[in-house]
Amino acid sequence: MSQKHIGILTAGGDCQGLNAALRGITLSALKEGWKVTGIHDGFLGLAEMAHSELTFADVYDIAGTGGTILGTGRGGGKAQNTEDAVAACVESFKALELDALICLGGDGTQRFASYLHAAGVPVVTLPKTIDNDIAHTDVTFGYDTAVHVSVMALDRLRTTADSHHRLMILEVMGRDAGWLAAGAALAGSADICLIPEIPYSLEAIVEYTRKNIKNRRSALLVVAEGAISQENHRLGLTPKKHAEAIKLVDSIPELTGMQSRLTTLGYVSRGGAPTAADRIFATQCGTKAIELVKEGRFGVMVADQGRQLVAVPLEEVAGNPRLIPVDHPLIETMRATNICLGI
Ligand code: F6P
Repeated sequence: MSQKHIGILTAGGDCQGLNAALRGITLSALKEGWKVTGIHDGFLGLAEMAHSELTFADVYDIAGTGGTILGTGRGGGKAQNTEDAVAACVESFKALELDALICLGGDGTQRFASYLHAAGVPVVTLPKTIDNDIAHTDVTFGYDTAVHVSVMALDRLRTTADSHHRLMILEVMGRDAGWLAAGAALAGSADICLIPEIPYSLEAIVEYTRKNIKNRRSALLVVAEGAISQENHRLGLTPKKHAEAIKLVDSIPELTGMQSRLTTLGYVSRGGAPTAADRIFATQCGTKAIELVKEGRFGVMVADQGRQLVAVPLEEVAGNPRLIPVDHPLIETMRATNICLGI
């Protein structure tokens, strides 16, 4: 068994499961007799040499906690451009005398990690994000919890929808992908679900509301923050945060006569304790990362493919976000249960 020194960092937005993954990585590295250094605040911290040793005591009870004990950030520090940021990170990697760097992050992190690998840093990455939009993995940690929190919100909104005979709108995060909205709508028994992958028509929503909802006098609509109307899509416009949700809450009462109210869930879905499923998956990703370091397999991301953990080359992952295919089982199930997709 050769002694190794591993660096770990969390980059991009926080999400649930990061601490469970840090715990998995650290405990399994310590079991090998290796040393573990936690880099603070993402690549920014690496560039600026902000770090501390991770011990058993630091991680043994953190699987159930939200956020990241290492802190996180977007970007590469004081550097003016990517090239300088990469150079600063490579320099720190050498100065810290690390043998490998494990990066936990979303699409942006995968991309920056691939640059580090190309610059000679032995890198392994893990897939985290509530958006579930990382290429070549069926799932990312953080997603299950974010769906769970969104469903809890829908369950609570339903009581007001029923009591006041309203159409309650819930806007959820997800960036350019509709995974979170689709998962929440299906599990939360929503009536309407609008996702970026399927530009919606207001007329179709109005028609569906008249036919299916008006008599019942209560409904739930989930809209992804990246959803876009067919009109704006045709004009090539990029969705503006909250704009579509505001348009819906203004237009629906006018066009259907039904009262409507908007709730923006935002960061609530990204914070707090992870579900058991996210804790387990994140821990497994962490221990798999150490296995890959042991085997000397670098420039790869740990991915879940058909419930098997595999290593996929970073260059295939980076800059290639995974949207929901319109014939995905999640979408097919929504169609089969007559959830309106806005078309
Ligand atoms: O990628 C996760 C996510 O929460 C997206 O759903 C959201 O659009 C974005 O991050 C918000 O990023 P920030 O916290 O940097 O504004």
